[in-house]
Amino acid sequence: MPAVELVAVNQCSGNSRGFFDPRVASGQLANGALGNAKWRGVPLKALLDKAGIDASAKQVTFDGADGPVLPTTPDFVKALDLDHAMDSEVMVAYAMNDADLPMLNGHPVRLVVPGYFGTYWVNHLATINVVDSVYDGFWMKSAYRIPDNPCACVEPGTAPKKTVPINRFTIRSFVTSVADGARVPAGREFEVRGFAFDGGFGIREVALSIGGGKSWVDTTLDADLGKYSFRGFRTRVWLREGEHVLMSRAVNAIGQTQPRSASWNPAGYLRNIVESTRVTRCRVVKERAMSVATLPVRTALATAFALAAACGALATKIELPPETARLANAPGVELANAQCMTCHSVDYVITQPRGKPLAFWKAEVEKMKAVYGAPIPPEDIGPLADYLTRAYGTP
Ligand code: HEC
Repeated sequence: MPAVELVAVNQCSGNSRGFFDPRVASGQLANGALGNAKWRGVPLKALLDKAGIDASAKQVTFDGADGPVLPTTPDFVKALDLDHAMDSEVMVAYAMNDADLPMLNGHPVRLVVPGYFGTYWVNHLATINVVDSVYDGFWMKSAYRIPDNPCACVEPGTAPKKTVPINRFTIRSFVTSVADGARVPAGREFEVRGFAFDGGFGIREVALSIGGGKSWVDTTLDADLGKYSFRGFRTRVWLREGEHVLMSRAVNAIGQTQPRSASWNPAGYLRNIVESTRVTRCRVVKERAMSVATLPVRTALATAFALAAACGALATKIELPPETARLANAPGVELANAQCMTCHSVDYVITQPRGKPLAFWKAEVEKMKAVYGAPIPPEDIGPLADYLTRAYGTP
């Protein structure tokens, strides 16, 4: 038998159901009911070819060695259309991540149906039947069904007129490097990472918003492990002090993307809206107990640089006198306070010659970024230069 290998996501049909509004019955899952693994096994097609398929064949059914707790509960049997079962990608897998399948992952063999919800990935696979009709067991005919319309949705609280078996994943993405509600260190750029996946077309791009969806930046995609795999993404961001809402939005190879508002279906399936991760950037902590004025400028700066400003936890603690200098109060001062006090005192700014034009201040800000590595986003350069000119541009 030929062995094939494939990296694919297995996601529970009920993943994220707990976020449905109005709420729906069944397991109240958050977003974690999914995983990505490398599967090795035999293409189902190779097995079926060997067995020989009758011309009247319509579907293939799959039953695992497990059974219901009570005999009155319908046995869990799933079915795929014949052409799907014969697509060479559906696999009878015996290994996961280069090891024998663990018991809880379907030992000794399980079905792997790339791009399709986990309900089809029958564990402990024991019986494969080719049938000449559409299989009507409970877990196909009555359960795991979605509204039969393009959005697979209905008006909240209503029942669909017609349904079909749940099938492919919708496109999704998640920020995973910071948890919702996390506090992130002040005073430096930090990397936001996450992953995206879809029903098997492949992720083309992932955009990230740090402003609750008002503006978006491109991210860098990690290595492509195949169109059924998680696709990692990452980008570096600079957050101002305070609260921020991070959002990621993926686009796949056929242009599908994630909606901003949720649709609804009675079983709580297929959630794929742009998710939000709320983070708070902590205050920049500076403690002053040394007379900066008596130090040469470079020493004072070196001292300022040594202040690690991570949520109050200082790597090196140097006490400096309290800063009494303030940036002039003019429109844009908040931005300058956020961007210009990380490395040095504002004395540095306010002692510059007065009456300089916009070009001077723009060059200063650009220098801070290009030469000293100030993590100033490009879109802030203009507003910062405008503020500095407004505040200090008149003689
Ligand atoms: C990443 C750290 C960092 C940040 C953030 C930063 N600076 Fe600086 N800045 C420096 C360093 C380093 C120097 C040079 C010190 C020296 O020459 O000894 C400097 C010097 C200056 C000077 C003196 C003139 C010069 O060109 O050397 C001015 C003016 C200045 N900064 C303004 C700003 C303003 C305005 C901001 C906010 C937009 C800012 N800085 C943000 C690191 C920073």
